[in-house]
Amino acid sequence: MGKCCKCNSRLLCMCLLPFMMTGHLLIYIMVSIFVTMSYAPPKITIHYIAPGISANSSALASHPLGPFWNLQLEDRAMWNQLQHAWDRENNPILRGNTTGISRKPRAQLLTEIARTHDLNSFPEHMGAFIRSMHCREYPLLINQPEMCRRSSDGSGVDSPVLLMAIKSQVGNFENRQAIRETWGHSGMVEGNSNKKGGLVRTVFLLGRQDSSTGPHPDLKNLLELENQKYGDILQWDFRDSFFNLTLKDLLLWQWLQLYCPTATFVFKGDDDVFVRTDVLLDYLLTKKKEHILWKGNTNKTDMDLFVGDVISNAMPNREPSTKYYIPESFYKGMYPPYAGGGGVVYSGSLAFRLKEVSELVRLFPIDDVYLGMCLQRLGLSPSHHPGFLTFDLPVTDRGNPCAYKSVLLVHRRSPKEMLTLWKQLQSMPDQC
Ligand SMILES: *[C@@H]1O[C@H](CO)[C@@H](O)[C@H](O)[C@H]1NC(C)=O
Ligand SMILES: *[C@@H]1O[C@H](CO)[C@@H](O)[C@H](O)[C@H]1NC(C)=O
Ligand SMILES: *[C@@H]1O[C@H](CO)[C@@H](O)[C@H](O)[C@H]1NC(C)=O
Ligand SMILES: *[C@@H]1O[C@H](CO)[C@@H](O)[C@H](O)[C@H]1NC(C)=O
Repeated sequence: MGKCCKCNSRLLCMCLLPFMMTGHLLIYIMVSIFVTMSYAPPKITIHYIAPGISANSSALASHPLGPFWNLQLEDRAMWNQLQHAWDRENNPILRGNTTGISRKPRAQLLTEIARTHDLNSFPEHMGAFIRSMHCREYPLLINQPEMCRRSSDGSGVDSPVLLMAIKSQVGNFENRQAIRETWGHSGMVEGNSNKKGGLVRTVFLLGRQDSSTGPHPDLKNLLELENQKYGDILQWDFRDSFFNLTLKDLLLWQWLQLYCPTATFVFKGDDDVFVRTDVLLDYLLTKKKEHILWKGNTNKTDMDLFVGDVISNAMPNREPSTKYYIPESFYKGMYPPYAGGGGVVYSGSLAFRLKEVSELVRLFPIDDVYLGMCLQRLGLSPSHHPGFLTFDLPVTDRGNPCAYKSVLLVHRRSPKEMLTLWKQLQSMPDQC
């Protein structure tokens, strides 16, 4: 510009300047318009659909693919609305100035939102879930306060490396016994590759299944007998149904905090899976070692480990005939990444953080998804491990012990199959 002014008259320069600036402005505007027009939101590929839905169901087409936490208020989905009300309460930016305004009791808020929805339009078990979803506290009917303080084998160790918490139902005596006799053996367990193992404790998580909760035979005395013999039953006073399974996670976390706060790792699984506990211990102890090495460079003591068969970009199941069915009037959006089916393992310290954050997340009727939601709120994602086989091995491989070499968990096995497989794996051929 200085050069221009030197060569030409000052006047010419002053006249040209506005034109040049307008020109630049026009170019800028055109480029902006072009960029805006050519922008397309990133496409999310769906590679998994929650179990039970056929991949070509037309029911999938109608709802938006927003990220899970981007809850839209205009969505009339009940869960989204309830969660949004809590977010508003718990987030000082969204809340604005509400000093002096007391928090509405959970039940009251729920009633208000439920009034705008017709509860009878939901399937029956969904209705039952909604009516009790404000309640998260249920008393223990059978407790094991000494579970993590016993050192029955005189080893002096009292804090388990691994606490196995297995979701069971009152009537599943056979599953529990098969687990006790095989992979869920409580006591000192050796690692697989003759590495050091550790103390494993097993508890079974039960709700109520008796005449007060449906047409169930009264198995109370049998259960009491079982508990006297094995002392590994935790039972809470709520109806044991599929949509109430999330309660078992919440109540387990409470129990852990009170009675087993020093467990290093927690396995949570179903009573129809087979776990290779020794291999799992090897894996967990390696993880722990890595963490201690890494911890040396930081001051972080918490270990964020959450491992399972991770499912990403899953859509809710919209097929009314399946047990995973979630109507659009209840929940809209994608599911967060979650570890599905059979079992997951996480660190003890993470259990406490999950417990804390769960107080900010509305109960969701599918337990695996709920854990995913809580993890997301903590800013964590579940880690995938290919050894967790939710969908089992190919049929032809199931009888071959070598096929289980790198398996940590496999779903699903009957009590009989557990016993057979256990025996086979005790003497895994060297050539595997
Ligand atoms: C589409 O759905 C039908 C039944 O609902 C099923 O038989 C068929 O295999 C499905 N096709 C694909 C590609 O999933
Ligand atoms: C919040 O509201 C109360 C009364 O409702 C008022 O006295 C107070 O000054 C307000 N605080 C702020 C930060 O605006
Ligand atoms: C869950 O348990 C509570 C307490 O027993 C019960 O009121 C509710 O109906 C149960 N929910 C489902 C879906 O079974
Ligand atoms: C760790 O904490 C100690 C004191 O608690 C402090 O002196 C040290 O600088 C911290 N180290 C790092 C890497 O933050």
